[in-house]
Amino acid sequence: MDKRNLPIAFFDSGVGGISVLREALALMPRENYVYFGDSANAPYGTKTVEEIRALTLGHAERFYRQGIKALVIACNTATSAAIQALRSIYTDIPVIGIEPALKPAALMAEHPTVIVMATPLTVSAAKFHELLGHYSDKADVIPLGCPGLMEFVEMGCLDTPQVENYLKELLGPYLSRYSADAIVLGCTHYPFVKPLIRKIAGDQVRIFDGGAGTARELMRRLTQEDLLTDRSSQGTVAFYESVPGKIDLCRALLKV
Ligand code: DGL
Repeated sequence: MDKRNLPIAFFDSGVGGISVLREALALMPRENYVYFGDSANAPYGTKTVEEIRALTLGHAERFYRQGIKALVIACNTATSAAIQALRSIYTDIPVIGIEPALKPAALMAEHPTVIVMATPLTVSAAKFHELLGHYSDKADVIPLGCPGLMEFVEMGCLDTPQVENYLKELLGPYLSRYSADAIVLGCTHYPFVKPLIRKIAGDQVRIFDGGAGTARELMRRLTQEDLLTDRSSQGTVAFYESVPGKIDLCRALLKV
């Protein structure tokens, strides 16, 4: 089989990776995609690096055995914990990860103040501290771990009073203490509650996420390795079941 017509695999700890998949679909609609969110084991963001790495490697291996031409870890948390290991194992396919979109936020103005919302694991990981090191002279960066936020999205609660209260309590004090110029959504679940974050933060704060940049990087790698499909019709998206009911939520989120 022509490798170019194999699917591209997307992995997340749950339904959050759909926020990255929708960007890839918009950019490369003729590709076939397979998506698996490990909702049965979510959240990843409060687990240890070792636990997350073991789960991620297990799911990646299943994808690889079925035949894929690229693997996208559409999860900042799993990327922090496992991207190096994945790249050393799967050397014959592009392995793309995602990290908080700090670069565009830090460079948007002269020394802006940037709040980075992410899982507790992501903001404590060595990979994030390395990223902070690159931009510490260009911006004031305030990491904000958000335990519990992904769970709302996993339940399909994108616009309920409960998630609004959660966000007000969490973000409110940070917004009043620091006059933030930007917020980075450093977890792939969070773009689904962006309208509420926008409502709480106000129109003057810019909001960044890494979905579009990750999709562009995927396309760049596929192009570079001559792996773009030659199909001329629309591709397909297949979802693998993690826990009952999640596929319906994934399909609904793809249209958000
Ligand atoms: N969607 C994941 C991320 O981008 C993490 C959510 C979780 O499992 O805690 O970080």
